[in-house]
Order: sequence, then structure tokens, then C-alpha cells
Amino acid sequence: MQKGSAMIAIILGTRPEIIKMSPVIRACEKQNLDYCIIHTGQHYSYEMDRVFFEELELPQPEYNLDVGSGTHAEQTGKIMFGVERVLKNVKPDIILVEGDTNTVMAGALAAAKLHIKVGHVEAGLRSYDRRMPEEINRIVADHVSDYLFAPTEKAKQNLLREGVEEDKIFVTGNTIVDAVYQNLEIAKRKVNVLKDLGLKPKEYFLVTAHRQENVDVKERLKGILKGLELIHEEFSMPVIFPIHPRTRKRIREFGLSLDGVTVNDPLGFLEFLQLEANARLVLTDSGGVQEETCILGVPCVTLRDNTERPETLEVGSNIIVGTKREKILEGVKLMFNKENSWENPFGDGRAGERIIEILKNKRW
Ligand code: UD1
Ligand code: UDP
Repeated sequence: MQKGSAMIAIILGTRPEIIKMSPVIRACEKQNLDYCIIHTGQHYSYEMDRVFFEELELPQPEYNLDVGSGTHAEQTGKIMFGVERVLKNVKPDIILVEGDTNTVMAGALAAAKLHIKVGHVEAGLRSYDRRMPEEINRIVADHVSDYLFAPTEKAKQNLLREGVEEDKIFVTGNTIVDAVYQNLEIAKRKVNVLKDLGLKPKEYFLVTAHRQENVDVKERLKGILKGLELIHEEFSMPVIFPIHPRTRKRIREFGLSLDGVTVNDPLGFLEFLQLEANARLVLTDSGGVQEETCILGVPCVTLRDNTERPETLEVGSNIIVGTKREKILEGVKLMFNKENSWENPFGDGRAGERIIEILKNKRW
């Protein structure tokens, strides 16, 4: 352990946070820093949680709060309560959170009220749509943070417009680039998911959908499912849909059906990355998947009305189509033969190291 360096507590709780924090955790390990992982337990199913610790070879969290699922207030309250208790015991110099989930907002708030410094990884993203729970979480987390690690210049500008002091903002790139670069080769060595699923490169579509404002609204979810059926009919290619537990639950509750689409359980990161890299095109409402497709050179059709990743629209890797079936088909037709010559706007794959470098030598 490095003498005199900061004690860092990494708070995480969901699939994308585990994946996007993995480069930061690796950087802490490499620098031999004093750090610990606090898992809120927001995600807990094996394929939404433990599989990522195993595949990415991450150390086990020192603490698991086991908060599980619930309403927003219930989940947020439980996380704050649990995080506060652990932080009083651990007494870190700084906590780090990543992204825009309830874990992020609650973790950041609990720490700020204990006067512990807060670092927000992936700060400054804005969809300007406050119906999204994630937008509220981002705004709150950013405004109680002391270190704002913005992935792009655009994200930095969003923060400056909201009055965040410039000396708190560091443009580092997004740690998802690090995670993609670090794991693509490992995936090639360790898994062969195309063979397992009987797929040929560039001859299938890959889909994910889980946003609350999409899948909790019957008409929007139905539009997405019908859109998938339409593209299967039109292109006669397999449509692979590793399904988020929220979405599976809602399809059942709403009594919806889905024909011609291969529905799987959620996949590990290595398997999913390999499927993404070889897909003809990806349809998604995920934030991380919009970024990954852009990094991997795979066209993306986003099943939403807006995005907090406008960089992907600007470089031309992604378009926004909403959730109506005809619009989804139109979007896929438009992007199907898209040339993938765009540049990745999310950084050089060293964001994790950069973040730790910034924190390592601070006096607290
Ligand atoms: C959460 C985040 C979202 C993020 C997503 C990543 C919030 C407000 N939402 O959404 O920003 O994009 O994670 O995937 O923080 N469930 C399980 N097993 C699990 C986790 C959830 O079965 O391990 C089911 C439960 O029925 C639960 C539902 O999924 O009620 C939703 O889980 P929740 O954590 O509330 O939100 P996500 O949709 O996962
Ligand atoms: N992902 C995965 N398995 C899957 C679907 C997604 O490993 O079956 C990964 C994906 O590569 C990305 C992350 O999960 O890194 C995105 O998480 P999600 O879409 O749940 O959340 P969001 O990014 O929208 O917050």
C-alpha cells in the first residue's frame, strides 16, 4: 500500500457500474493504493452482478449492503442509510461513484453529508429529460461532487453552464473505452458466443432494452417488440435479445408476445462484447451500449426520444428513432449499410489511470 496516498472507497451497485469502474479498480491495484469496494446490492442476480466480478477478475467487495429492488425512494433511502453506516466506519478520504443510477445519487449524497469528498466518474452527461430517473441522479450527483470526471469536452461544457467551478472538472475520457480495449482480446481467447448461438459475423441484429420510461409503459414496450418482429421479417436475419430482468417481468405482466426473436438471459460482459463487435447493427435504449457500438464501429439505432450521448449522433454511429414500430424499421434501413469510418469521441482507453493519477497525490 502506498504511504500517504488517499484512502478511496468505490461505491457501485449495478451492471454498468461494475463494468465501468473495473478500469478504475485495476488502476488502484496497479498503483497499490489503499481502497475498498462498497457494493450496494442494487443488482443481485448472478447474471447482473457476480458474473462481472468473475469475468473481469475483480476483487470481492469488502461490504455488500444487500439493498435489492424497490421503489425509487425505498431503494435510495436504503442505500443512503447503508452507505452512511459503512463510511463512518471506513472513513475514506474520497468516495467514487460512476454513472447515473440510484446507487450513484444515494452514495454521493450520503458521503457529501458526512463531509467526505465525492468524485463522480462520467460527470456532466445530460439528456435534458427529467422524466428519466437517471437525469435527476446525474444532476444531484454532479452538484454534490468535488471531483467531476467528465468523459468529453461536451460533458464539461454542460457542467460549466450549470455553474460548476471549472477547477473541479477533469476531462478524462470515458472508462468504457478502457473496459472495451482491456476485454476485447480476452473475449476472443475465452469465449466463442457466435458459435454457441449458431451466428455468423455481421449477419444478425443485437438488441437490449430496459429503460423505465420504455419498458414500464405498455404501448412503448409493445412498439419496440413489434419493431423487432418487423426487422426480422424484412431482413430475414436472427435478432438476438439478451433480456434485462425488468423487461422480462414487464413483458409477462403486460401479456405481450415476441415472435421470431431469440430471447436469452442477460450475458456476461465478454460474451456481450463479442456479440456487439460482430453484430450487423445494434438496437438499444442503453447508455453504455450506445457508447460501446460507437467505439467498436458498429451502427446503432437508439430506441429513445433523446440521448445524453450526443457525441454518438455527431460522429454518425447512432440515430434516435423512438419506440414506434415503423420508425424502428426506417432507422434500421437507414443504418444497415452505414460505413463505420467515424472516430471514437470517448477517449483513448486510459481514463481509469488518469482518474487515479489525479487523486493519488492530493493532500486531503
Ligand atoms: C438500473 C438503473 C438504470 C441502469 C440499469 C442498468 C436506476 C434508477 N436505474 O435500472 O439507470 O441503466 O440499472 O442495468 O438506478 N432485477 C432483478 N435482478 C437484479 C436487478 C433487478 O431481477 O439483479 C429486476 C427486479 O424486478 C427489479 C427490476 O429488475 O425490480 C428493476 O431493477 P432496478 O435496479 O430498480 O432498476 P434497473 O431497471 O435495473
Ligand atoms: N451488458 C452485458 N450483458 C448484457 C447486456 C449488456 O454485459 O446482456 C453490458 C454492456 O456491454 C454495457 C453495460 O452492460 O457495458 C450496459 O448496461 P445497461 O444497459 O444495463 O445500463 P446503462 O448503460 O443503460 O446504464
